[in-house]
Amino acid sequence: MSTANYGDTREVIAPADFHVHLRDGALMRLVTPHVQKGGFYLAYVMPNLVPPITTTEMAMEYQKNLRESSGSSKVEFLMTLYLSDALDPNDVKNWKAAGIVGVKSYPRGVTTNSDQGIESYDKYDQLFREMEVHGIVLNLHGEIPSDHSKNTCVLNAEERFLPVLANLANTYPKLRIVLEHATTEAAVKAVIACGDNVACTITAHHLALTIDDLAGQSFHFCKPVAKFPNDRLALQEVVKSGNKKFFLGSDSAPHPILSKSTATPTSGCAAGIYTSPILLPLVAHLLDSFGAIDRLADFTSNFGRAFYQIPAGGYSPKVVLQKVQGVSVQAEYSSEGKTVVPFWASRQIDWQIVNVEE
Ligand code: NCD
Ligand code: ZN
Repeated sequence: MSTANYGDTREVIAPADFHVHLRDGALMRLVTPHVQKGGFYLAYVMPNLVPPITTTEMAMEYQKNLRESSGSSKVEFLMTLYLSDALDPNDVKNWKAAGIVGVKSYPRGVTTNSDQGIESYDKYDQLFREMEVHGIVLNLHGEIPSDHSKNTCVLNAEERFLPVLANLANTYPKLRIVLEHATTEAAVKAVIACGDNVACTITAHHLALTIDDLAGQSFHFCKPVAKFPNDRLALQEVVKSGNKKFFLGSDSAPHPILSKSTATPTSGCAAGIYTSPILLPLVAHLLDSFGAIDRLADFTSNFGRAFYQIPAGGYSPKVVLQKVQGVSVQAEYSSEGKTVVPFWASRQIDWQIVNVEE
């Protein structure tokens, strides 16, 4: 493993972001083109709209809107459904044909638009067995709700979810499960301890932040929150090690600037960090910063595509990045009265996309 020199280049074939929030309405139209702007040609789309995406019809309609909004036919949008009682096990066999690849589970109340999240997995036994048979992936937001009587809060909510992950992985050994946006050393160990049916996404921002960066900085607030220095180090080390279970899911989660920046004594700020428009250069910068630049293609394309069994297909551009002396991240993006602020706004990134070979 090495650090790059200025002028060095790296290439990634068909970069794939296996966890992204693209919203709806004006915000969707603003942020969807930023998938390709950030260097990505596959977006694994989260279903937590209001109301959540729970039917094949809703997913297909949403996919159509995303394709129109993206202004490009080059990005592949893979759809997910929101785990809830609305999902009928008898329908699972029809999902693949409708473009649905996974089901996303949000524990109730832990994050943005999770009011309809689940409280127990037991009642989904039949659904999970059908998903096993039909090759649908289960995506887990791995936190349990805060409960101060049990000393559970945002700092240990992920670690306390991990027995649930192990249990699901054992009960459904053929169900492919992804622990989303891991933030802790404990989660890294738990995923490694599971069988090959379990993988894990890691965001760009969790490779950069610790809880110190979040304190007092609302644009660094997302769920799960960034944790301790040893946790960040564990995420960096597992990416550097080239373990194929760990790949990029940005959890890019845009919110209008006012939802992020106008907290009052009675209303907090929205959870979510927006990385889509700068994603591939940002990941290159971060990997380079801890000596893992040679893992760029594995982390941002190969490993995720292998787990999801979605090889780079007919349209497989080669994205070329180069190490340069600091490019400023744009301060904000606006359209139709919506403004979003990207992660690291106005800071410098040492990598940029210099070519896309089609
Ligand atoms: C996400 C969002 O805003 O939709 N927020 C976040 O902090 N990550 C929801 C989620 O994935 O938890
Ligand atoms: Zn998310």
